[in-house]
Amino acid sequence: MRNKFLIAALSFIMIIFVTACGNSAQKVEQENNSAQSATKTDDTTKSTAGKKILVVYFSRTGENYEVGNISRGNTQIVAEMIATKVGADTFEIKPVKPYPENYKECTEVAKAEKEADARPAIVGDVENFDDYDVIFFGYPNWWSDMPMIMYTFMENHNFKDKTVIPFCTSSSEYFIGKEEIQQYAKGSTVLDGLGIRGKRCQENPESVRQDVDKWLAGLGIGN
Ligand SMILES: Cc1cc2nc3c(=O)[nH]c(=O)nc-3n(C[C@H](O)[C@H](O)[C@H](O)COP(=O)(O)O)c2cc1C
Repeated sequence: MRNKFLIAALSFIMIIFVTACGNSAQKVEQENNSAQSATKTDDTTKSTAGKKILVVYFSRTGENYEVGNISRGNTQIVAEMIATKVGADTFEIKPVKPYPENYKECTEVAKAEKEADARPAIVGDVENFDDYDVIFFGYPNWWSDMPMIMYTFMENHNFKDKTVIPFCTSSSEYFIGKEEIQQYAKGSTVLDGLGIRGKRCQENPESVRQDVDKWLAGLGIGN
């Protein structure tokens, strides 16, 4: 009986001890996390405060994956949300030779362009690209890559000392493209990007707006 009481008392002390250790470990982790996000916020705020911001994007209308025939592209919807939120100018990348409206035909053209490492020509250009410090860079995922026309844009512009903030839409919430931008937008600093499922832009844009706001807040941009 006495042994049983001793074992119960010891078990209770052990539980209190383990819980206390767990709590303090969690607290240290929380404190570390908040210190990290404070630093990140400070850094990015310093890098965007009072600077000129441009949202550059490519987006396609017509028949698309999961959404039927659309008159406003998925990436365009995200691009416009960002521009409104941060008060940026926008530039839409338009191909000289438009892509087919038909989804399947478009996938074939895009595949051929990727295989040929093509550089499709762009209509017009950004006025005074050199004046911008921060470039949001948006595109759909095409064949697990950026559309080739994004490479045309990167190769035609001087990104030295600019901050590039990428975003993409696709068939999932997955982001792609950071390494490619680091390689082709030479001399820029590329921040972490946002991936949004295209279908959600058409069917539930409010939920996309919330994700965009959260992402921008995490980067220390917007309010
Ligand atoms: C040519 C083409 C290729 C695509 N390839 C992929 C792909 O590899 N992976 C994926 O998740 N979605 C892929 N998609 C779906 C698009 O990424 C998705 O529908 C996107 O939101 C379209 O954006 P937009 O309306 O701004 O053009 C592809 C769509 C097209 C038209």
